[in-house]
Order: sequence, then structure tokens, then C-alpha cells
Amino acid sequence: MDREVWTRVDQYFADLLLPADPVLDAALVDSSAAGLPAINVSANQGRLLEVLARACGARRILEIGTLGGYSTIWLGRTLLPDGRLVTLEVSPKHAEVARENLARAGLAGIVQVRIGPANETLAAMVVEESAPFDLIFIDADKPGYTDYLGWAVQLARPGTLIIADNVVRNGEVADPDTSDERVQGIRRFTEALAAEPRLTAIALQTVGAKGYDGFVLAVVTS
Ligand code: SAH
Ligand code: DHB
Ligand code: MG
Repeated sequence: MDREVWTRVDQYFADLLLPADPVLDAALVDSSAAGLPAINVSANQGRLLEVLARACGARRILEIGTLGGYSTIWLGRTLLPDGRLVTLEVSPKHAEVARENLARAGLAGIVQVRIGPANETLAAMVVEESAPFDLIFIDADKPGYTDYLGWAVQLARPGTLIIADNVVRNGEVADPDTSDERVQGIRRFTEALAAEPRLTAIALQTVGAKGYDGFVLAVVTS
């Protein structure tokens, strides 16, 4: 594995395919200044989220795990002017940083940041009989992924795209004896995916500036 090459290639494609973006850059600078960990998606991965959201014509997007709102900006921009994005975050501090970043991006009017443990905010959304989402991005605590998948299916419709980040973890996902509870969480999540007949899913390995990791892409079929 050669992270230097992956990073150089990531940079090559980003330079050609991603326009300079002071608003996204500022979101990362301010997140870092506020002490948030740099575990946001990379720029190329943000573009992947954008392409997928546009390809499925998403008008309602749900994100689980906001951090400073970097991925939220990539997704939220696809929705202007009349879409809606709900993003769930347990940390009030992360949510505050995200709200400022989203306001600078001109997305304050279409993005709702809901604070609380996602299992609670998702349960509330089911009780509220929330309209179904067209795209759901799971990117919060990894041990919670199996629960979030269950809620996602309840908040979906046939055709909804469910995306989950960080499912490869440097290849550790294939180690049945892993002691990392995050990887154990991903393994339980993958088993739940396999057992869910309403989903058709693939796990896609990725390399780049953020190392060796991957996404699950799952479409709701019924
Ligand atoms: N999607 C972001 C990165 C999210 S990092 C991006 O790519 O820019 C994961 C986030 O999930 C962190 O901000 C963390 O505080 C949050 N999180 C962790 N446990 C959570 C929980 N139980 N409920 C909601 N959010 C949680
Ligand atoms: C971690 C979480 C993420 O969502 C990510 O993209 C990278 C790392 C983590 O908890 O270590
Ligand atoms: Mg992630």
C-alpha cells in the first residue's frame, strides 16, 4: 500500500475536476480551529456524494453524523433551492461549528441540524412520520451503524440510496478477530445488510488522501 501515490492521484483528479472552493476550504479551517477531528470525507469523496445525490435526483437527504458539516455542504448544495436535508449530530459543539459552516455556504434555510444521539433523533423522526428520504448517508459512530440501517430502511422508499462511510478501515473489516469495536460494528452492519431482503448492496473499496477505506452503496428495492 502506498498512501503517497494515492494522495498524489487524489490531488491530480481534484485539481482537474473540482473547482477551487473557498467555502468548503473555510469549513475545514474553522472545524480544525475549533478542535474537531479531521475525519470528514475527502474532497473527491464529497464529489462522489454530490454525483450520487444528483444521479438519483434527491430532494430529501438524511445524514447521520454531521461533524463540521463538510459532507453536508457537498450534499446540501445539490438540493437548492427547494430540497431539504436533515443531519444528525450528538455533539452540540460539532453542531454549532456545522451551523456556522452551513450558514456561510448559504444552506441554513434548507439544512436542519438535529442534536442528540442518532438513535433518539431517528426514533423521533419515525414517530413524527417523516416523509421518506431519497438518499441517506450513514457516517456516525461505527458501533451504531446496524441500528442506523434499521432506522434508514424505515425512513426510506423503494429507490432510496443508502450510503455508509468507512466500511473497510484499512482492510481490517476482513479480520474476524479484530479487537477494534468500530470494525466489529462495521462487520455487524454488513451482516445486517446481507440479511435485509429489501436492500441490494455493494461495498466499494477506495484509496486516496484519507487512506484505504470504502463505502457501502445500497438501494432499497421494496
Ligand atoms: N459526515 C462528516 C463526518 C462525520 S464524523 C463529514 O464527512 O464531513 C462522525 C460524527 O458522528 C462526529 O461528529 C460524531 O460526534 C458524530 N456521532 C458520534 N456518535 C453519534 C451518535 N450516537 N449520534 C449522532 N452523532 C454521533
Ligand atoms: C472515523 C470516523 C469517520 O467517519 C471517518 O470518516 C474516519 C474515521 C473514526 O471514528 O475514526
Ligand atoms: Mg466517515
